[in-house]
Amino acid sequence: MAQFLVEGGARLSGTILVHGSKNAALPILAATLLVEAPVVLKNCPRLRDVENMIRILTELGCKAHWEGAALVVDSRSANRYTLSESLSKELRSSIFLLGSVLGRFKRAVATYPGGCEIGNRPIDLHLKGLRRLGARIDEDGGYICCEGDVFLGTTVPLDYPSVGATENIMLLACMAKGETVIHNAAREPEIVDLQDFLCACGFEVRGAGSSEIVITGGRAKQGCTYSIMPDRIVAGTYLTAAAITGGELELVGARPEHMVAVLEKLQDSGAYIRMDGMRMIIKSPKRPSELQRLETLPYPGFPTDMQPQFFALCSVAGGISILVENVFENRFRHAQELIKMGGRNTLRGTMAIVRGVDRLHGAAVTAHDLRGGAALVLAALAAEGTTSIACAERIDRGYLHLETALQSLGAKVFRKD
Ligand code: UD1
Repeated sequence: MAQFLVEGGARLSGTILVHGSKNAALPILAATLLVEAPVVLKNCPRLRDVENMIRILTELGCKAHWEGAALVVDSRSANRYTLSESLSKELRSSIFLLGSVLGRFKRAVATYPGGCEIGNRPIDLHLKGLRRLGARIDEDGGYICCEGDVFLGTTVPLDYPSVGATENIMLLACMAKGETVIHNAAREPEIVDLQDFLCACGFEVRGAGSSEIVITGGRAKQGCTYSIMPDRIVAGTYLTAAAITGGELELVGARPEHMVAVLEKLQDSGAYIRMDGMRMIIKSPKRPSELQRLETLPYPGFPTDMQPQFFALCSVAGGISILVENVFENRFRHAQELIKMGGRNTLRGTMAIVRGVDRLHGAAVTAHDLRGGAALVLAALAAEGTTSIACAERIDRGYLHLETALQSLGAKVFRKD
């Protein structure tokens, strides 16, 4: 088990380059199974979740290798439709493979991903969508067995704009006969990235970014070289790291248009932000202002993946902030850890009341989940003394070389294995 040791107090300053998006890379990797030709993915972050997805694809018979920073995947040799239990349990996103494995082989067997650190995370919407396209699905003893002879395009109304369900349905719809229209689709930028990748391979998909996505089934015409979008959550985390330390940061390679809700809240906290194409500069006041109300919502609302980092920011703000988590039911586990660092917060169901304190102090805390762990790193940067953060590998799932990046900005962050 790895640990981060953070000595707080340094104001961050410097320049940072944002890496590729994990949440865009994972469904795109699933989609490579539908493209029976070599695909080159640039800007693909070499994170544990990505490596796990590559291992699953390899187990299915695909070939994959890194060429410098680019990942090459060739699914021509894929010949299996059963997702191994151990890897699918480790990587929740393996569930995205249901749509593409089913599309490729007309069969798929997976294990039920079950709960995870941030909530129950059911997959009913995924299965409902796949069934509408013609899949027969049996759920038996923790296994999900899917098959279908022909998949037919149709309308798929989603009860909730689930990111994963939208992506899964898009993938199977690519291999269905005729036109599929997803209503109430998720609008996240990662879905637009998946659409752009599919179109680059010759599939016909349009409408991503809006609530209605139209897919005309067909075959991939060619492989492609595709550059994965920058990670908007990583970008937001670094900006918030600057804000919590009263620092000044230049962020290169992020797309401000993906981050409007986050940038607005940073500005509400008193930060000055200048944008210039794919460059952003943040200058933050010594102490952030409180946020009257921050509510997480599907895109373009404030992302749930940034709620914990803002929870940390509000913990040292000048007043009382209200945070409401509408997307996942168990995403306040960082709250109790922040209390160990001197934070003051009260939870009432989906609402957190966060009273800013003058200073947090170092403590021994645990990262219960990826973004909650990142929030603890941010809090530790602003705290007096040294904080040890256990289960750092959970944070590694989403941030490439976090400690070296923060060190380059003047922070004292070390890893202890
Ligand atoms: C994706 C992101 C995750 C992000 C989340 C919301 C990836 C790999 N992960 O997760 O980082 O936090 O979007 O922006 O891209 N739900 C159901 N039934 C379903 C599916 C979802 O009830 O079949 C519920 C979930 O429990 C949750 C909500 O819908 O309460 C949102 O989940 P969803 O948008 O599907 O998130 P993920 O795709 O799992």
